[in-house]
Amino acid sequence: MRPWVRIVSACTIDGRIASRTGYSRLSCEHDLRRLHMHRAECDAVMIGARTAEIDDPMLTVRLVRSERQPMRVVIDGRLACRLDLRLFKTAREVPTIVFTSRVADGAKIMRLSELGVHVEIAGEDRVDLRKALEILYRKYNVKKVLVEGGGTLNFNLLREGLVDEIYVTVTPYVFGNGVSVFNGEGFETTYECPKLKLTSVRLCECGNCVVLHYLVERP
Ligand SMILES: NC(=O)c1ccc[n+]([C@@H]2O[C@H](COP(=O)([O-])OP(=O)(O)OC[C@H]3O[C@@H](n4cnc5c(N)ncnc54)[C@H](OP(=O)(O)O)[C@@H]3O)[C@@H](O)[C@H]2O)c1
Repeated sequence: MRPWVRIVSACTIDGRIASRTGYSRLSCEHDLRRLHMHRAECDAVMIGARTAEIDDPMLTVRLVRSERQPMRVVIDGRLACRLDLRLFKTAREVPTIVFTSRVADGAKIMRLSELGVHVEIAGEDRVDLRKALEILYRKYNVKKVLVEGGGTLNFNLLREGLVDEIYVTVTPYVFGNGVSVFNGEGFETTYECPKLKLTSVRLCECGNCVVLHYLVERP
């Protein structure tokens, strides 16, 4: 068993979530508020190691009222993230889990544990995402996960059939380069690509962004 997996992303009209320099502030105030509503609805918020490093996010619910904070989850196969990330510094206040692999440095695992971070090994040299989700479900009682990127984590989850729904906010910008919503070796044709069912199209309150919602059909 694994949790329900919801990807939420804001991108440019050319499908980029970050420019070639890593700049990624695309959401308007309404979109940010929606993101916090998604966080409040989920038991855990998951990001990839590069997003953790570049954005240094808190991943907490702040813009809407919420009784609780979701757990925070980082996928970091080589345990390369620096120890002074805000997520780690506040791990005693909000439960924070790092999934890594057997190649992770033991001393760094110890340091993270001392900070109150739960470190889980799931995989030999990369994180086995299915296993990580199963651990979240079984050990941490996580039934719904919000995935906030980046593109590499999004792509690998989708390729492995581990995504249930996708919200994409198309913002009125063009980067022409950078990281895509789904970024990886890619699918060669539409036949290999998972089938998506468009369930809603909404104009954002700002009048300049569009929010798309897709369900991922099971094969
Ligand atoms: N606009 C938005 O909505 C939005 C949202 C989030 C992020 N972003 C932007 O996206 C950029 C980062 O995206 P990214 O694609 O470069 O990185 P990412 O997806 O955040 O992180 C990728 C890293 O996760 C680690 N990982 C470990 N196991 C993995 C697995 N099984 N599958 C996938 N990843 C695994 C890998 O590290 P190892 O190779 O060490 O294992 C990999 O390098 C940043 O610039 C950020 O600002 C934008």
